[in-house]
Amino acid sequence: MRARRRAALGLGASLGNPGAALALAARALDALPNTRVIATSRVYWSPPAGGVARRPFLNAVVVVETSLSPRELVRAGREIEARAGRRASRRWADRVLDVDLLLVDGVASRDPEAQLPHPRLGDRPFALVPLVEAWPGAAHPVTGKRYAALPAAAVALPAVGTLPRPTGGIGARRAGESAMKFFLDTANLDEIREAASWGIIDGVTTNPSLIAKEGRDFVDTIYQICTIVDGPVSAETVAVDAPKMIEEGRLLARVHRNVVVKVPLTIEGIKCCKALSAEGIRVNVTLCFQPMQALIAAKAGATYISPFLGRLDDVSEDGMDLIQKIVQIYANYPELKTQVLSASIRHPLHMVQAAMAGSDVATAPFKVYKALYSHPLTDKGNAAFLKDWETVPDRDIIGQVNRWLSSRG
Ligand code: E4P
Repeated sequence: MRARRRAALGLGASLGNPGAALALAARALDALPNTRVIATSRVYWSPPAGGVARRPFLNAVVVVETSLSPRELVRAGREIEARAGRRASRRWADRVLDVDLLLVDGVASRDPEAQLPHPRLGDRPFALVPLVEAWPGAAHPVTGKRYAALPAAAVALPAVGTLPRPTGGIGARRAGESAMKFFLDTANLDEIREAASWGIIDGVTTNPSLIAKEGRDFVDTIYQICTIVDGPVSAETVAVDAPKMIEEGRLLARVHRNVVVKVPLTIEGIKCCKALSAEGIRVNVTLCFQPMQALIAAKAGATYISPFLGRLDDVSEDGMDLIQKIVQIYANYPELKTQVLSASIRHPLHMVQAAMAGSDVATAPFKVYKALYSHPLTDKGNAAFLKDWETVPDRDIIGQVNRWLSSRG
């Protein structure tokens, strides 16, 4: 087994949404295999450098303990840059995200792919200032000289924010769950039965429109869903004032232990959320379209917040940006236990984006789940394997294994 070492990675971004890109990189580093984030610096602002960049940069440093090799870390950094949407660009130019391996404890290397320490580390305040903040004892592996003693480490850069706290992996972020949960967004019992038979559905969300579409009795539909899927099932209130909503919520919660009461993100809905949560009734606050709504719902004790990705994309706003911001805000305040439930998902890419952002749950229609399974190369590859298998003389695996086992006594 490879030894674990401490390593520092520098993050920088100037284009797009630099704060979100840095947060995404920090979470992605936290989720690398055999790696855990042990410290992060604050986020620093620095002016454009090198005479090429035009915009100021945000920079930070993440210190990890890892058994990955320097090359593996450099490649992981490039993958994270690509995920953030980075394209090849000139040195010093503005960019969506830079992830640079700066230092690995005790390692000096001339490997052109992973030169260590980073050759320009000693004279770059935007790398040194956050480095010595996150790793005060960082020292050159050959000379032993502390980076904190270098003049560039003493440059005054403004700190403008923080990175999400280390969590031990995106999926394990706050709720202690191992991966993003899959909820089905439908009130159609046939779809729910079929998807449940696949064994991957963790819960169901409904709303008044989905219930109306099926033309069945509301309460009986919710009860039937709860008997098919043994997980959270959202049933939405329709009253407009808090007292009536609370009454509806209390009653819906009595239909089945799986029921989660869904309320809209209005002042009345939040009052209802606070009252029901205080009684131990789980609440899903829906129709969230901006980050402060999510903080309000969390402070009111919501079990889930449902930001709507697709409906934001529909009006040319970036739904993914909303999910990232909420995940980051919640990660900044671990006392908030509300789970991010990415909703209004229209296609598989939304699911990918929700998982990359660290959403606790994603709810999607039946057809999106079907699409998640399929890829033309899977079908083509499987067809080729089965065709080739036809040429094998004894194709009965069960019979063969049983005979082989009994021949060995
Ligand atoms: C979530 O709980 C909502 O019911 C749902 O995701 C809304 O999706 P739509 O925007 O596709 O109607």
